[in-house]
Amino acid sequence: MTATTIPGACGVRIVGSGSAYPERVLSNFDLEKMVDTSNDWIVQRTGIHERRIVNPQTEGTFTLSRDALNKALDNAGMTGSDLDLIILATVTAEMTCPSTACRVADAVGAAPAGAFDLVAACSGFVYAVNVADSMIRSGRYKSIGVIGCDTLSTIVDYEERTVSILFGDSAGSVVMVRDDDPTVGCRYQTLQSDGSMWPSLYIPRRDQEVPAGDENNPVRMGNLRMQGREVYKFAVTKFRDVIRDALEKNNLTIDDVAQFVCHQSNMRIIESAKEKLGLPDEKVHVNIDKFGNCSAGSVGLCFDQVWQAGKIKRGDLIVLVAFGGGLTWASSLWQL
Ligand code: ACO
Repeated sequence: MTATTIPGACGVRIVGSGSAYPERVLSNFDLEKMVDTSNDWIVQRTGIHERRIVNPQTEGTFTLSRDALNKALDNAGMTGSDLDLIILATVTAEMTCPSTACRVADAVGAAPAGAFDLVAACSGFVYAVNVADSMIRSGRYKSIGVIGCDTLSTIVDYEERTVSILFGDSAGSVVMVRDDDPTVGCRYQTLQSDGSMWPSLYIPRRDQEVPAGDENNPVRMGNLRMQGREVYKFAVTKFRDVIRDALEKNNLTIDDVAQFVCHQSNMRIIESAKEKLGLPDEKVHVNIDKFGNCSAGSVGLCFDQVWQAGKIKRGDLIVLVAFGGGLTWASSLWQL
């Protein structure tokens, strides 16, 4: 599905941003003691030096999401009771019922605001931002809290080296409100998927969900499994294609865009896209060295770091880009 702004409709403004991540650091040197790997291999293949992981006794998707949204509300000068709706993108909800979004809505004082979880893996935050923009433009909602959060450390097999080195935990959140100026907000968006490629990245719960050919995967049942090379090829191509598509369909060049806020999957994937598209360093924020791949938390955390650093301001055009399990991919061209 792709959609452009409906002429004459209201606009949408991002008025606050926040993020949260655990204190606990898991470094490459820690991983060297857990699996057969090395700091040099991880840095060279992924650009990751360390990542944050939750203490599962006291932290999780609920606490990080709640904290990120509370910070976004503070940043906006709003309270939970100002929100009509909360959308939480995650593949690591503590429970399937209730949604984590409902508990977050209660915790920030937003009840009886609507609340639901959205599943699109690493593309989740961009999916949620696009859905929220469309719901506000429909005229039915005035203010929506969007959160992207994953705590993949809770479903990573730390006895297996190919997946465990990549992921970290974090949450990013924005508060979006209706604006009378129809030119602000999402000017162009894509939400796309290719379900035929699901075995590239999946979390099986039962033996019968394991696709043919992956029966001997050493990753434990219930943990994230990945065909790294397949995902790599997909991500490199999609990263480039969705940015090109957003620019071309809107007659824009790289010079018109203040920041490309991109999913942090692997430093080599980011570098490849920068090189192929000619994106300058200062327009692509990178935090994968310190946080790893945070799945649905990744783009929201990047957005918050860029926002809090004052690198983007009212009137700027930005592009959000993500791709992940499903397989899914999404872009969002925003006039701030
Ligand atoms: N330490 C040391 N050696 C390792 C490790 C490790 N942690 N992992 C794999 N190796 C070995 C392999 O066994 C292999 O050895 P062999 O040549 O003797 O068979 C060798 O290193 C090369 O393995 P590859 O899998 O080919 O390594 P590659 O260069 O592809 O890097 C990686 C692997 C980092 C996983 C890469 O494929 C990648 O980044 N893929 C994309 C991952 C990604 O972004 N996933 C998230 C998607 S987003 C979402 O929705 C969650």
